[in-house]
Amino acid sequence: MKKNFLLLILILVAVNLQAQFQPAPQTQKQLIIETDNTALVYSIGKNQKLYQVYLGEKLKNAADYQLLPSKHEAYIPSGGDNLFEPAIKMLHNDGNPSLELLVSDEKVTRDGNLVTTSILLKDPKYPVEVRLNFVAFQKENIIKTWAEIKHQEKKPVVLSNYASAMLHVDADKYWLTQFHGDWAQEMRMEESQLTSGIKIIDSKLGTRANMYQTPVFFLAKNQSANENSGDVIAGTLGWTGSFQMAFEIDNEGSLRMISGINPFASEYHLNPNETFTTPEFLFTFSNQGKGQASRNFHRWARNYGVMDGNGNRLSLLNNWEATYFDFDEAKLTELFGGAKELGVDLFLLDDGWFGNKYPRANDRAGLGDWQETTTKLPHGLGYLVEQAEAKGVKFGIWLEPEMVNPKSELYEKHPDWVLKLPNREEHYYRNQLVLDLTNPEVQEFVFKLVDDMITKNPKIGFIKWDCNRMMTNTYSPYLKDKQSHVQIEYVRSFYKVMDRLRAKYPTLPIMLCSGGGGRTDYGALKYFTEFWPSDNTDGYERVFIQWGYSYFFPSITSCNHITTMGKQSLKFRTDVAMMGKMGYDIRVNEMTADELTFSKQAVQNYNRLKDLVWKGDLYRLVSPYEDDRAVLMYTNEPKNKAILFAYSLHPRAFNQYSAVRLLGLDANKNYKLEEINKMPNSRGRFVADGKTFSGDYLMKIGVQLPNNGDLTSAVIEISEVK
Ligand code: DGJ
Repeated sequence: MKKNFLLLILILVAVNLQAQFQPAPQTQKQLIIETDNTALVYSIGKNQKLYQVYLGEKLKNAADYQLLPSKHEAYIPSGGDNLFEPAIKMLHNDGNPSLELLVSDEKVTRDGNLVTTSILLKDPKYPVEVRLNFVAFQKENIIKTWAEIKHQEKKPVVLSNYASAMLHVDADKYWLTQFHGDWAQEMRMEESQLTSGIKIIDSKLGTRANMYQTPVFFLAKNQSANENSGDVIAGTLGWTGSFQMAFEIDNEGSLRMISGINPFASEYHLNPNETFTTPEFLFTFSNQGKGQASRNFHRWARNYGVMDGNGNRLSLLNNWEATYFDFDEAKLTELFGGAKELGVDLFLLDDGWFGNKYPRANDRAGLGDWQETTTKLPHGLGYLVEQAEAKGVKFGIWLEPEMVNPKSELYEKHPDWVLKLPNREEHYYRNQLVLDLTNPEVQEFVFKLVDDMITKNPKIGFIKWDCNRMMTNTYSPYLKDKQSHVQIEYVRSFYKVMDRLRAKYPTLPIMLCSGGGGRTDYGALKYFTEFWPSDNTDGYERVFIQWGYSYFFPSITSCNHITTMGKQSLKFRTDVAMMGKMGYDIRVNEMTADELTFSKQAVQNYNRLKDLVWKGDLYRLVSPYEDDRAVLMYTNEPKNKAILFAYSLHPRAFNQYSAVRLLGLDANKNYKLEEINKMPNSRGRFVADGKTFSGDYLMKIGVQLPNNGDLTSAVIEISEVK
């Protein structure tokens, strides 16, 4: 009896082992998706399933990919034999909760720098298809991927998972870098080693989705991620709403990474013949650490990801931190003068200019009533636009089109235009509610708000588009019995409105803002020229915040304003702001004579060098996460010009810094180093000021940087000399 039992156990173990260690399915064909340096390789098994066989540095001989095993099904459906987190889960009309996906067709099209691969998968038993799309940006080494899901069953099917991408990685160890935060503390970088099981970074916030987590990550193989060495995958999701990125290590130590819309509370009832298109997941592979991955993203973003990514940007003076809600025409026109004096391009009027029955004197009332407050601005916006023009600056305006204060005429007129649960108390955040953008009437209202304003004041040259709350108590009166579609439909509706606006106003610069950096993603940046990283404008904090964003977003998109927040010198705050799209939010008439002279010179330096910062290659040299200083530089493509920024954060007394080796220069060129942005009458302490070195020397030996006092900074212009 005992013997039989043992035999049975042995047989069971053998069967189980066989199930686990099935030989790799024989391969019929490989599909190679390549950029200049990266390859993502799939194979079609004899069983017609799609397998991912490789993701990494491109191999010289494509034939070598054939040597790799077909271990991981590419886009794994739920049901069937899947044992871990699926990419897709569907409930059919007959109650069957499984999918099987077999390759039915594939095609590759080339269009210059873009190679598009499209793989059609079909279920052999149910009329369901999933198309996986990949666009490989050759020069930028970025791959964009998304899925399209469709069926011809009689009634809707229920989708409860719908990933944009599932990628497989094999390594001994995996290190995940994520960027978390909160209001005024966005993009805090944190790295941890993944352990078996699943790790999820996500947002369920709907609007202001990135308040606590931004949809970006680095995944480093075998060792923690370095700046300039090691295998790193960098990924981000282009979706302006709730997202989910799941990282799961399976029983064999393989990692699957699944990215897409957050399926949380979002079962999707897909009608026959309707196509569910997932957002785009963008990723790059670098075998030279995070630095190269960032440069890949920056280049791609400027060329393809951001509205007018290679264009110009307006420097500006904003009145938010200068006045908050407390302003009138006289105060504003005085600020126009300050803008002109500094030499910036535009004045941006922030929150607080609208509402009459309920004037917007603070954040408790008036939101949604987009008419000028007559007591504050008796001559209206048109007058302000003219006055700004007379002073020689353009005029821009703040809007928060998707939101409403309950204390507003808009709310009184349309109480059914807001997202709120029936039979529950309204829940406010910053005293406001989210409008139900899924309702076409609300979409029309938002479109018309912008359209009417620009039609009436065609000289408005800039919009700051704010969004100060997340979704809570979420229920759409418009969607009725489709409540699980709210989060998805909201984002689609947002894009619909932006599509209409962009069709009519293709070149108007619009800043993406969300109570600081609550919206920063490549889904929105198709429509927006720039974003507001954080309401925290303290120069010291900004070093970290901007450092965080710099991993995934090019500096041309980052609006950095000089304000009076923080205890650092004006020079420090100016140097920090110059690492992106510079602006001011300050009362110019309160500057000392030296500060004003310095600032005017800084604006001129910025105008002279902004292209280098915006479009140059970024090299992060010393990380504030590892040292009590931060050093980085931007180099232009011909490598004849570079600019270096160095910040001393809170060093110990008598701290001695070693020389910093530069990167990205041409070893065979000679470069002159000059410190710029110096306060008038200040003693320069840069020992190499005015000296010339070879690129070889600067990259092998380095240079001693001047900043060793608490919260001091230096900007060094590096120019080729022939
Ligand atoms: C939040 C933004 O981040 C700030 O810059 C400012 O525009 C306020 N909203 C205005 O309410």
